[in-house]
Amino acid sequence: MQNIDTLIKRLPKCELHIHIEGSLEPELMFALARRNNIRLPYESVDAVRRAYRFRNLQDFLDIYYQGMSVLITEQDFYDLAFTYLQRARADNVRHVEMFFDPQGHTARGVAFAAVVNGLSRAIADAGREFGVEASLIMCFLRHLDEADAEKTLDSALAFRDKIVGVGLDSSEAGNPPSKFKHVFARARDAGLFVTAHAGEEGPPSYVWEALDVLGVRRIDHGNRSLEDAALVGRLAREKMALTVCPLSNLRLRVVDDLRRHPLRRMMDKGLVVTVNSDDPAYFGGYVNDNYRAVFDALSLTREEIVAIVRNGFAASLMTAQANADALAEIERVLAESK
Ligand code: HPA
Ligand code: ZN
Repeated sequence: MQNIDTLIKRLPKCELHIHIEGSLEPELMFALARRNNIRLPYESVDAVRRAYRFRNLQDFLDIYYQGMSVLITEQDFYDLAFTYLQRARADNVRHVEMFFDPQGHTARGVAFAAVVNGLSRAIADAGREFGVEASLIMCFLRHLDEADAEKTLDSALAFRDKIVGVGLDSSEAGNPPSKFKHVFARARDAGLFVTAHAGEEGPPSYVWEALDVLGVRRIDHGNRSLEDAALVGRLAREKMALTVCPLSNLRLRVVDDLRRHPLRRMMDKGLVVTVNSDDPAYFGGYVNDNYRAVFDALSLTREEIVAIVRNGFAASLMTAQANADALAEIERVLAESK
């Protein structure tokens, strides 16, 4: 029998909750700062890593927005995404639905086109060079107002062929999904897939709003759904996937101990859970590290790990054929691991 690390590595996987700006490792941050003549408030890569101690989501977001300030040119966005996709390939990730935060860049004077063209070119090259398939989901920053999101959607519609969906991220508390009702309706009308962060720090009512007001097709995080039995019933009945990010939850103190992470209870209640890295450069682990961490902390079985991997494919926007191919490959990996 293969050891668990080998099994996790060999299984083809999806990543459905990764903020590309959150994959910016300190080494690349320094390289881009040098290239763009930007002074960072840290003297070394180690000093940056030492600053990554967060009490909550907002602590992290403050550092995350500061980190992304080194991204200026189309080539910077290319390098960011290409580096992440190479790292994903090393984890045997086959399909990525990548979040990006254009308002974090346009507010600094970076052109929307530089962001989308850089990311898309990296995605095209990664697909051609090593077969990782990826697409872009544009997130609205929920601490900004809906008018700003509307303008951002206008910009995105000029790049409709390069963006598959929209999401909602940033500071959750005090910024309920209903604040973005109109812009999400317009995104849905444009045929975009819709998802939203909900229930990471915010209450179950935010998950209800994401479902009923925004019409989302997935919930990003969703941890606090467990506080509401009726909501859990609804999510289970509708097979609504949750993109769970265990190491993120630990580092942002959404959970105080991985052994008490809600993933186990979510599975016991029949929810469709997936495992993802969120912001791997900031939270200390890529997707395989996240699988390994929950395997250990929650004493999952190998079958449960495989079930989570299968959920990722089921919850993805892959074609039915690509999905069937991935499931067949999972079976081959399992046969070899006996
Ligand atoms: N939550 C909300 N916004 C974010 C996150 C997150 O985990 N990561 C990047 N932006
Ligand atoms: Zn996230």
